[in-house]
Amino acid sequence: MFNKITIVGMGLIGGSIGMACVRHALAREVMAVVRRDEARREVRGRDAAHDVTLDLEEGVAGSELVIFAADIDATARLAHQAAPALSAEAIVTDVSSVKTGIVRRLDEIFDGVCRFVGSHPMAGGEFGGIAHASPDLFRNAICLVTPTERTDPGVLERVAQFWRRLGCTVKSLGPEAHDEAVGLVSHLPHVAVAALMNAIGRTGDPRAAMACGGPSFRDVTRIASSPPEMWTQICLHNRGVLLEAVRRFRDEAGRFVELLDAGDAVGLRAFFAEARRLKALEIGPTAPAEPAQEREPRPASKGAPPPDPLIVRRPAEVKGTIEVPGDKSISHRAAILSSIAEGASTIGNVLASEDVVCTLDIMRALGVHVEWLSDTSVHIEGAGPRGLHAPNDALWCGNSGTSMRLLAGLLAGQPFRSVLDGDESLRRRPMRRIIEPLAKMGAVVQGTPPHDTAPLTISGGWLRPIGYVSPVASAQVKTCILLAALYADGVTSVTEPRQSRDHTERMLPDYGVVVTRHERTVAVEGRQPLAACDLVVPGDLSSAMFFAVLAACTPGSLLTLRGVGLNPTRVAALRILQRMGAKIGFETSDYLNGTGSEPRGDIIVIGDALEATMIEGDQVPNAIDELPVLAVAAACANGRTVIKDAAELRVKESDRIATTVANLRAMGAQAEETDDGMVIEGPAKLHGAELDSFGDHRIAMAFAIAGMLADGETAIRNTACIATSFPTFHALVGRFLSA
Ligand code: S3P
Repeated sequence: MFNKITIVGMGLIGGSIGMACVRHALAREVMAVVRRDEARREVRGRDAAHDVTLDLEEGVAGSELVIFAADIDATARLAHQAAPALSAEAIVTDVSSVKTGIVRRLDEIFDGVCRFVGSHPMAGGEFGGIAHASPDLFRNAICLVTPTERTDPGVLERVAQFWRRLGCTVKSLGPEAHDEAVGLVSHLPHVAVAALMNAIGRTGDPRAAMACGGPSFRDVTRIASSPPEMWTQICLHNRGVLLEAVRRFRDEAGRFVELLDAGDAVGLRAFFAEARRLKALEIGPTAPAEPAQEREPRPASKGAPPPDPLIVRRPAEVKGTIEVPGDKSISHRAAILSSIAEGASTIGNVLASEDVVCTLDIMRALGVHVEWLSDTSVHIEGAGPRGLHAPNDALWCGNSGTSMRLLAGLLAGQPFRSVLDGDESLRRRPMRRIIEPLAKMGAVVQGTPPHDTAPLTISGGWLRPIGYVSPVASAQVKTCILLAALYADGVTSVTEPRQSRDHTERMLPDYGVVVTRHERTVAVEGRQPLAACDLVVPGDLSSAMFFAVLAACTPGSLLTLRGVGLNPTRVAALRILQRMGAKIGFETSDYLNGTGSEPRGDIIVIGDALEATMIEGDQVPNAIDELPVLAVAAACANGRTVIKDAAELRVKESDRIATTVANLRAMGAQAEETDDGMVIEGPAKLHGAELDSFGDHRIAMAFAIAGMLADGETAIRNTACIATSFPTFHALVGRFLSA
C-alpha cells in the first residue's frame, strides 16, 4: 500500500497497471503522466488513475512508487528529467522488455537520488494503447524483476509485492540473464512469427490461404499484429542475444529443409519428437490445468452489485425487522457434502454470494449436477463420494479462503490432479496450514514458492488416517482434514488449540456420517457413505452483526434480526456486545426445527450507551469475522477496548488489524495496532471520511456501519468485495437511509 503511485506513460501496460492500482486500491492517489492532452480523457474514461498530468515533475513529486511505462527509447530521457523532482524515499521501477542497457542507465541516473529496481511484467497483447488495457492483464502473469549489485533487497521485495498484488508470480534474475531468457521466449518467437507471415505473404494469394487457417494458425500468428515500432526498438536493444538466437533458429530451419528434402521420415520424426520433449519440460507430460486466464475475478453472484463508492450517513432511526442472507460457512459445507452424497439434496436459504457460487461452480466442474431453483435454493444431484471427475481447468476460488481450504481436503481424496487458484488476495493467504496435514495423510499438495501459497496443485488418492494436533484454531483447517478423512482408511482425528466453529461436525451426521467429539477433538472414520439431505441454512450471524452493532450504538434503536444462526461456537460477538452494555436478546426458537442441526432464532437489539471491554483468548476464534465491526462498536464505547490473541486477523482477506485501525483513525477515532490485535480509546466523535475497503468485504461493511454512526457523509471505495458474502447488504443499508 502506497500513499501515491505515479505511472509515466499510459499505453497498454501503463494503463493496465493504473486500472489495477485503482481497482485494488493500492494507493491513496494514483497519478498518471501522459504526453498528449487527448490522452488525459482516455485515462479518466478508463478509470486508470485518480489524476492525470502532462507535467512529469509535478506527476512524480511526493510519489512513493514511480513506474516508467513508456517505450524503451523514451524511458532513460524521462527518468533523467524526473530525477530532480523525486523524493529520496521514492521507489522507482520501469517495465521495459529489454533490461541490460536500460537498467544500468537507470541505476546511474537514480544513484543517490532514490531507489530503483527494474521490472518486466510478461503480459501484454498484440494490440497496444490504453484502449486495450485491462486491470486483469497481470493476473496469472509472470513478472521478472531484475536487481543489480546496487539494488536494496528491501526495495526489491516492495516492488515484488506490488506485482504480486496485481496478480503476478514474481521471478528475480539479473538484467543480462533476463535478456538472454526473454530473447529466447519472447523476442525470438516474435521474429519467427514475422518471418512466417512474410513467407506466407510471398506466395500467390496469401489472403485465400489464411482464410483456411484453423486455431493453430491463429494461436501461432497472433503476435504478428504487434506494433512494428515497438518490436524494432526491442530487437535493436537486445541485438546481441537475438542475433545468436535467430542464427540458431535459421540452423534449425536449415536442418529441417535437409531432412524433408531427403525424405528422411526417421529424422523428421526425431525433429518433432525433440520439440515435443522440450515443450513437456515447460508444461509437464500432459497439459496441466492452467489457471483460467479469461475469468472474471469474481464470478457473478445473484443480485445487483453494490454502488462504488457506497455513500452512507447517519439514518433518521434504526427500527424494524430485517433478515440477513444464509450463513456462508454452512452454505459452503452443504454444497460440498451434498455433492459427494448419494442422491439429490435441496439446500434452502443458501447464500448466493460470490464465495459460495465459487464452491458450487467448482462442484459443477468436478461433474456434479447443480441447479438453482430460486435465488436462494439450490438442487444438487450428489455424485457419491467416488463420483467426482477430473476437472478440465484450474478451479477458481475467487476471494474465498473457505472454498480453497475446504476443497483442498476434498480433492486430496480424489484419484486425479487438480489446481485450486484464486484472486490476488487469496493468493497471499497462508496455505501451509492445510498442506502440512494433507501431506501427512499422503496427498501431494504443491503450493507456489516462496511461501507455498495458491495456486495449489493437488494430487490425491488413497489417504492414511492421522491424529492431527492443529497449531491454529481454524474451522477451515479442521474441515479440510475432516473432508480428507472421509477418504482415508481408518479413523482420523483433529484436535484444535481453541474451539472453532463446529458446523462441519454438526452437519456430517445430517448426511449420515458418524462423528465422535470429545472436548476439542473431532474424529471421523473414513469410507462412510453419505446420504443426501435437505437443509435450510440459517441467516448468517456474521452478516447480522453489522446491523446489530448499528442498532447497539444508536440511541433509541429497536431492531429485530430474524432467523439467524445461533450456533454456540459463533455467538461470542453477541455476548461481547452484551458485556459492553448493549441490550440484546437472542434465543433459539424451534420454528425452523427439522431443517438441519444448526440452532437459530431471532436477535433483538436496543441501542444504549456502551462500555469498553477486553476481547481475548477463547472468544477470539468465535468472533473472528466480527472483530472489525466490534472495533467500530469499541470506538463508540466509553473507555479503552483491547483486542488481543487475534494475530489471525492479519491473514484474512486483508490485514484486518492494519485496515481496521487505518479506517478508524481516518474517521477520527484513537486506535493503535498491536502485534496480535488493537487498542481503541472511546468514545470517539466519528466523522465522515473517504475510506477504502482494501478489497475486504468485512472491512467495507464494518466501515459502512461506522459511517452510519458518524457525523457527515462517508464514502467507501472498492465495494465490489461485499458481494463475496452479503449481496443484499447495500439494499438493507439503503432501507435504513431512506426510512
Ligand atoms: C470459516 C472459518 C473462519 C472464518 C471464515 C469462515 C469457515 O476462518 O474466518 O470466514 O467457514 O470455516 P478460519 O478457519 O481460517 O479461522
